[in-house]
Amino acid sequence: MIFEQVANGGCQSYLIGCSEACVGALIDPEVRKIDRYRALAAQHGVRIQYIIDTHTHADHFSASKQLSEILDVPVIAHRLSPAPYVDLRIDEGDVIKVGNIRLTVLHTPGHTRDSMSLVASDRVFTGDALLIGATGRTDLPTGDPEQLYDSLFNKLLKLSPDLRIYPAHVYKGSTCSTIEEELRSNPRLQKRDRGEFVEMMRTLSLSMPEHLTEALRVNMSGGVSVAQLLSEAAAEVPFMSMEEVKSRVEAGANDFIVLDVRERDAFDAAHIPSAKHLPRGQLELRVNEALPDPTLRIVTYCEVGKISTLAAATLRRMGFTRAVALDGGMKAWKEKGYQTEATPQA
Ligand SMILES: [Fe+2]
Repeated sequence: MIFEQVANGGCQSYLIGCSEACVGALIDPEVRKIDRYRALAAQHGVRIQYIIDTHTHADHFSASKQLSEILDVPVIAHRLSPAPYVDLRIDEGDVIKVGNIRLTVLHTPGHTRDSMSLVASDRVFTGDALLIGATGRTDLPTGDPEQLYDSLFNKLLKLSPDLRIYPAHVYKGSTCSTIEEELRSNPRLQKRDRGEFVEMMRTLSLSMPEHLTEALRVNMSGGVSVAQLLSEAAAEVPFMSMEEVKSRVEAGANDFIVLDVRERDAFDAAHIPSAKHLPRGQLELRVNEALPDPTLRIVTYCEVGKISTLAAATLRRMGFTRAVALDGGMKAWKEKGYQTEATPQA
């Protein structure tokens, strides 16, 4: 069996593969590790055949939709998953075949309604139902401590004691455990009475994960995150260094336009000398009158360099094929002590 565990902070993804059939499945992939998964699959000589999400993640951005499009393979999730891009909806007792490997589905709700665990011959992928030394939380959307109690005590913990556990999160350093080990030492599993367990889960008062609403929006809809949007735009545009812009402005170069895409107040207070102003929000609608020559070299800038990247990408798409973005923003420009100009008061 081919097996790789890929950590991204505390989030864990897995590549499981069959070396005879040369196929594999990716479990709980995260967007920032897409290249890593593909490299690992290539290194092991396996073709990724399935992308599997154990549940709707609230704390990281699932790479399932993107990988499914890149690799042209189906996304698998529990039938209760709200994600519209799921191709294969599965349920309790279903078996996913990955070459000679069999992954049997256990519906293990509680952390989320659509949580499932995948049981292989010697290991179980528990998603966020059973963690090492902990359990998944039940206070996020569709969480339910009563359901988690049943998923743990009436399903997962009744599996073979020597099964290894591979969860979707690792918080305390150890990356592998067994059912037996968790029964013995996991503090949350010591509350074996349903009422006590539910009460404990209800009173944990954990802090909310970072990017909660954004992760749910992206994972439930298949849309993109702000970071993805920015990195896609950044991949479409070249940048110009602040030193280069400064020297061109000082030399009075007339073969390029410095374009400030911030709001009017910010522009009026301080802008790069000779900059033209066209706020990002009005870019598409006012571009024809503001920038009549599409062959000009245009350098966009904003406060920190993000909006200007989006603006430069938009300009390129509209035919301004020499648009670039400032590598940095007005904030860094000022910090360097470079010259600025205010709009004269009328
Ligand atoms: Fe989760």
